[in-house]
Amino acid sequence: MTKVLSDLSLLQGILGRRTTNGPFKPDSVKKEHQHMLMKLASAAPSHFNSQPWRFVLIENRDTIERIGAIAGESMQKLIERGIFFERYRRYFRFSQKEMDERRDGIFIDHLPAPLKPFTRQIFSDAGLSVMRNLGVPKRLGEDNRKLVAGSPLLMAVLLDKTEYVPDQLSGFYSIFGMGAAIENIWLAIQEFKMGIQFVSTPMEIPEAWQEIQHLIRVPESLELMAVYRLGYLPDDPKRPSIDWNSRERKRLSQFVFRETCDTPEEDD
Ligand SMILES: Cc1cc2nc3c(=O)[nH]c(=O)nc-3n(C[C@H](O)[C@H](O)[C@H](O)COP(=O)(O)O)c2cc1C
Repeated sequence: MTKVLSDLSLLQGILGRRTTNGPFKPDSVKKEHQHMLMKLASAAPSHFNSQPWRFVLIENRDTIERIGAIAGESMQKLIERGIFFERYRRYFRFSQKEMDERRDGIFIDHLPAPLKPFTRQIFSDAGLSVMRNLGVPKRLGEDNRKLVAGSPLLMAVLLDKTEYVPDQLSGFYSIFGMGAAIENIWLAIQEFKMGIQFVSTPMEIPEAWQEIQHLIRVPESLELMAVYRLGYLPDDPKRPSIDWNSRERKRLSQFVFRETCDTPEEDD
């Protein structure tokens, strides 16, 4: 497999794609890189070539700092109120054994030292109050604020509402196309030694999402779907205090079937 891949940069790019959850260099992202990313996004497939995606590239420091503050406050609220752990507990794994079996979700193997003894309890009510007492929600909020506010470029992704009608097939198709466009960007940034990360916490707090829509003046005709942070990667990336990412992937037999859904594909 390695030999087959060694000359195929596209396949290596797909397998090497990552989410960046640490800081970026402060340098602005070159206009030529920004435009190339947009061009690559627009090369994605879309239903009837409708190209329903729209992008807002944000470099204004005040706007970025405000969105950073909104992201940080949203993160703090989500953790403090227990919403985050309630909503997402099913994605977290607490041992290598569990991870090896399931091969999905996030393995909590990297927590700040004071939290380590409570790894297994962080999803319980008792764990939540320990975290509150240790000031964890505030710390995580501040980490998130710094990451977003310190990014040289934010990218808002929107959909044209004449296509994106949630209960209609065109709405479903639009999301497919948008996903493909974002994936093109996500793959291509490696070429420019850049990274990308979803800024998702404000989406979970309706007032926060509204404020972002207001800040970037989203018109009635468009729906704000996502916000990402982008920038050039540092030369010596450090692992963040809580690492939410995971490189694990399911085995073939866990997600592929042969002929009917009754027969899992055999692993190599
Ligand atoms: C719809 C969607 C939402 C995501 N939300 C977040 C997020 O809020 N924060 C984050 O850091 N990564 C987010 N991610 C990235 C995933 O955590 C990441 O893709 C997964 O852990 C695998 O890691 P990798 O992208 O480095 O392969 C999201 C990805 C998708 C497709």
